[in-house]
Amino acid sequence: MDKIVIWGPNRLEGQVSMSGAKNAALPVLASALLASGPCDISNVPRLKDIETILSLLSHLGVQVDRKSDLIRLNSDSVRCLEAPYDLVNTMRASVLVLGPLVARFKKAKVSLPGGCAIGERPINLHLDALEKLGAKITLDKGYVIAEAEELKGAKICFDTSTVTGTENIMMAAVLARGVTVLENAAKEPEVIDLANALNKMGAFITGAGTDTITIEGVRELKGTSHSVMQDRIEAGTLLLAVAATGGKVEIQNCDPHHLDVVIEKLLSSGVKISTTKNSIFVESDGAIQKMHVQTQPYPGFPTDLQAQMMVLMTQAQGTSLMTESIFENRFNHVAELRRMGAHIMIDGRSAMIEGVKTLSGAPVMATDLRASACLVIAGLLAQGKTEISRVYHLDRGYEQLDQKLEKLGARIERRAS
Ligand code: EPU
Repeated sequence: MDKIVIWGPNRLEGQVSMSGAKNAALPVLASALLASGPCDISNVPRLKDIETILSLLSHLGVQVDRKSDLIRLNSDSVRCLEAPYDLVNTMRASVLVLGPLVARFKKAKVSLPGGCAIGERPINLHLDALEKLGAKITLDKGYVIAEAEELKGAKICFDTSTVTGTENIMMAAVLARGVTVLENAAKEPEVIDLANALNKMGAFITGAGTDTITIEGVRELKGTSHSVMQDRIEAGTLLLAVAATGGKVEIQNCDPHHLDVVIEKLLSSGVKISTTKNSIFVESDGAIQKMHVQTQPYPGFPTDLQAQMMVLMTQAQGTSLMTESIFENRFNHVAELRRMGAHIMIDGRSAMIEGVKTLSGAPVMATDLRASACLVIAGLLAQGKTEISRVYHLDRGYEQLDQKLEKLGARIERRAS
């Protein structure tokens, strides 16, 4: 298992280009199950989670050809309709094959994902919505079986905004008979990216990016080409890293509009930021004012940047407040930050972060993807040596983050152990 070693403190300077978005690539790759003929998906990041979805698609019988960041998928050869426990267990987003399989092949058997490090994360909203579309849902020995001779359009109002739930049901509804209306739909940019890909295949989806999405079912979808959107969470992570360590960096190949609320928070805390259509210039001397942040579904502050923002808060003057509203257990990084000298008190879903002069390097352990990014930022600004173990969490969702930081001047090294 690899480790990342960082010698701090560091100042970051230079230019860095963002990769394709993991959370957009996963549903877009799953959507190829719906199309007859080949789908060419480009700008796909090289990540562990992408390997997992490709293994799952291959297991189902999809032909998968990968050339660098371009992946050709042909699902005309699908012969298996079962997503097994060992793959779903590795990555919850495997559940994204449920909607497409039942819509095109009339049946899907998908292992129920269990809880994960950040929360219970049930899929009841996916299943309720599929039932509304006419699927028969049964649970058997840890698997969910969805069957439907034909799905029928319906009005579905999600209780809670769910990103993969909206994506799964959008993919099921594109081949349903009649019109489906999704209310309280997730508005995340990744949902828009998926709708764009599906529309290129011949679907009729309007309203993606708003809380009401309308899908007029069609008889079939055809293969297409689609380039995955850039990763807004990777861009936000870099932005917060520069804000925390101090430095001057141009983050290229990203849509600043996707990070409006994060940029707003940083500007009011004293970080200098300017943007163009597809880049962000960030400059910080590390002097940060305290902040109050609450995670919310898009366009609110993303839960996927909560841990990274919390490291920045350890550097602020005064006491900051972070409230996590999306997941019930997403403060795993706090214990590790405390080991580095952070003063953080947790009260339910909120954390009070008292600014400290500095953090000190220590051996720490990554517990989940975004927590590992938080520890990398902490290691960059801390005095001395930080050794982060279990970095396979980082590799699930960040493409070569250590190399990107090294190019910005960080003293960071990956060690196989
Ligand atoms: N929820 C339910 N029932 C459901 C679905 C969701 O109660 O059927 C609850 C969840 O437990 C959670 C809330 O609704 O409390 C929102 O969860 P959501 O379904 O939106 O999360 P997700 O779709 O499973 C995606 C991202 C996550 C990201 C969240 C929130 C992908 C593959 N994953 O998860 O990304 O944190 O949306 O924005 O898109 C990450 O990349 O590190 C990551 C965890």
